[in-house]
Amino acid sequence: MAPSGWRMRRRTHLGTLMKQGAVHEAMSNARGPDPALPALKTRPLSTALGLEILDVDLHEKLPDTRVAQLREAWHQGLIVLLRDQTLTEQDQVRFAEYFGPPAKTINVHNTGRHPAVMLISNIRKDGKPIGALPDGEMQFHTDQCYIERPAAASMLYAIEVPRAGGNTLFANAYLAYETLPADIKSRIDGRKAINAYDYDNASTFRGTRLREGVPHYAHPVVRTHPATGRKALYVNRLMTLAIAGLPDDESDALLNLLFDHQEQRRFVYEHIWRPGDVILWDNRCTLHARTDFSPRERRLLKRITIAKDFES
Ligand code: SIN
Repeated sequence: MAPSGWRMRRRTHLGTLMKQGAVHEAMSNARGPDPALPALKTRPLSTALGLEILDVDLHEKLPDTRVAQLREAWHQGLIVLLRDQTLTEQDQVRFAEYFGPPAKTINVHNTGRHPAVMLISNIRKDGKPIGALPDGEMQFHTDQCYIERPAAASMLYAIEVPRAGGNTLFANAYLAYETLPADIKSRIDGRKAINAYDYDNASTFRGTRLREGVPHYAHPVVRTHPATGRKALYVNRLMTLAIAGLPDDESDALLNLLFDHQEQRRFVYEHIWRPGDVILWDNRCTLHARTDFSPRERRLLKRITIAKDFES
């Protein structure tokens, strides 16, 4: 169940709150049942989405009231950033558990210490990257949209970052849906799209065909978030191949229109990483991408995905 305070406020989105200069006040009121605990201090990351959480050290186990505040901030901001953290893998996993059960990674890029922690890195050992998704630019996508039960959330913790580039872009999928023209909404409402991911041949840029054995699944083009009740546009350029039931040319044209719409800068926050940054994002109402960076620069982040959250 979502906290009742959030349900009452769910129709107000971050942009409106920011225009009213009310984000900080709204968050300051999220005190929860423990009056002794100070309000959560936050600041917006952009007009599109994102909240930075201030003065929370993830090295410590947090009281339940603080966790409730963090969950509420996450539903409001869609992504939350905590800077200057120094975390063990256990600390990172404990933070993930506040939002739902961490998924065991089946990837070879597991760190070998905790089964839920995976490396995203271009650092090479014996000529092979030690992490997944090692190099360069990556198109917009949502994690695991090609399986039946995609990850509700994902988290990255930055250890080493390039001097320039390798930024992660986050887009607000609620705003993308809400700002679509009515005729486009009526063309996509009730439709499903086929999402697929070919990690070996098209891990960062859209592939041209669905190869044999590649995981794929059809999800609604418009999905309703289980905690906030808001509708989000759930397609993406990297992994959405086609809209089911439409001729190929019509599906391609409609998808290209949707991709161009959802990737507009006004819906996007671009995060320039610093070591010690932790970002948790909601895959049900955001998509993300990565900017290019030099292969001569080292990039190392630790990722956890959360299978489902407590409200789904
Ligand atoms: C990812 O899509 O999980 C990786 C994003 C990044 O490396 O910035």
